Amino acid sequence: MRTYIKDLNKFIGQEVSISGWVDVRRDQGKMVFMDMRDMTGKVQCVVLPSHPEAIEQVKEVRTEWVLTVTGIINKRPERNVKEGVINGDIEMEILGIEVLNKSETIPFDISGDTKEINEEVRLKYRYVDLRSARMQKNIRNRHKVIKLIRDFLDAEDFTEIETPMLTKSTPEGSRDFVVPARLYSGKFYALPQSPQQYKQLLMTSGFEKYFQIARCMRDEDSRGDRQPEFTQLDMELSFVKREDVMELNERLLIEVVTKLYPEKKIQQIPFPRLSYKEAMEKYNSDKPDLREDKNDPNLLAFCWVIDFPFFEQTEEGGWTFTHNPFSRPKPEHMEWLMNKENIGEILTTQYDVALNGMEIGGGSIRNHDPKALEKVFEVMGHKTEDIQRNFGHMMNAFSLGTPPHGGIAWGLDRFVMTMQNEPNIREVITFAKTGEGKDLMMDSPSEISDTQLLELGINLKKKI
Ligand code: AMO
Repeated sequence: MRTYIKDLNKFIGQEVSISGWVDVRRDQGKMVFMDMRDMTGKVQCVVLPSHPEAIEQVKEVRTEWVLTVTGIINKRPERNVKEGVINGDIEMEILGIEVLNKSETIPFDISGDTKEINEEVRLKYRYVDLRSARMQKNIRNRHKVIKLIRDFLDAEDFTEIETPMLTKSTPEGSRDFVVPARLYSGKFYALPQSPQQYKQLLMTSGFEKYFQIARCMRDEDSRGDRQPEFTQLDMELSFVKREDVMELNERLLIEVVTKLYPEKKIQQIPFPRLSYKEAMEKYNSDKPDLREDKNDPNLLAFCWVIDFPFFEQTEEGGWTFTHNPFSRPKPEHMEWLMNKENIGEILTTQYDVALNGMEIGGGSIRNHDPKALEKVFEVMGHKTEDIQRNFGHMMNAFSLGTPPHGGIAWGLDRFVMTMQNEPNIREVITFAKTGEGKDLMMDSPSEISDTQLLELGINLKKKI
């Protein structure tokens, strides 16, 4: 039976088997030392001259080979004890080795934090890169954050609901990734930029409290805090006001920090609130960095930014939405929208949450009145038949018993990145893409075969 390395100190004087990777190997001629690593920790192993068969076996072994090692757990002599290190007081005396998989020399050293290694090489060999202690921690802590979120929301009576990946182009502001529909030549699905419309429709369906750890796809240029494919904590609630959504999310953010990152300090609770106007005037940013000491990696300055303008002027002189066409104007500006007056002054119920100068989330109370929603699209110059074609399902739903509702989505990668003190979201995404949107490990995007193209009815043309 396999014993996990973290449990070895319970087996002093006994024979056990461990399985894992050879972390370090030091051949001292008569004796060979080897550190073994599994997902729970590391342990020093030694092969003594009194076990000639094991010596023979270990001479062949190299780092990163995968082994099952059988041996006796001994207490280390007092002078060799390493304080504060897991298994620093024990050692495994190897009796036998079974090689499960050999490894050629790995493409780069994973014993350090891999920050100095060329990132393209790291991404090409991501499965090796993920073995480093830092990446293991990032991914495991990401799991802990998600687990805490799930437990917290479950206790608040939320239901986690999946929504489709093959959907329809939505007006969320970015370019869609599209998927050709084989059965409907010339037609395309779009991958979701967010589950926005579905989550609102779930409110029509009476779920009242929805959340999802949702994958979102946006065909935009990548940056340190942007990937073409990323994860949101997405939520929507019925019968709520702006205050309710903000209060719940603030509580959840504080809970994640205090439970999982107790070394970190939240600068101000309750989180300060600024209007968009105030933020721009004072900090020239709608996601201001309010940290009093920007050198302290453990200082977290959250803030809410509210009262954004609903519309902004397009280059052509028309109007477009600043955040989300489905948002509701502030109650006092609803009349302006209905009369299509003072368009530039209409404020929305949008709230963004910023952390240390980065937008980590945003949401709003929605416009669940079909007439008012229609006005939004009219302001943006959509024709009635276009509104019906693109948003008919929303209009219909809103005339079939939809409660008032609102929600928010966090950029989960961005949040975890800050919590893990990482400089970009690629460090907390297991299989991240490059800044140019490539997956170097899978070598994607890639061409598809002529047969596939034919089946899809697609004729490739040179891009102009
Ligand atoms: P929004 O577009 O503001 O809102 O997205 C919510 C949060 O997602 C994060 N984010 C990203 N993270 C990584 N890579 C990207 N390309 C990327 N784009 C956005 C940001 C952002 O704050 N449906 C609405 C939410 C709502 O109104 O409920 C939405 O998607 O941290």
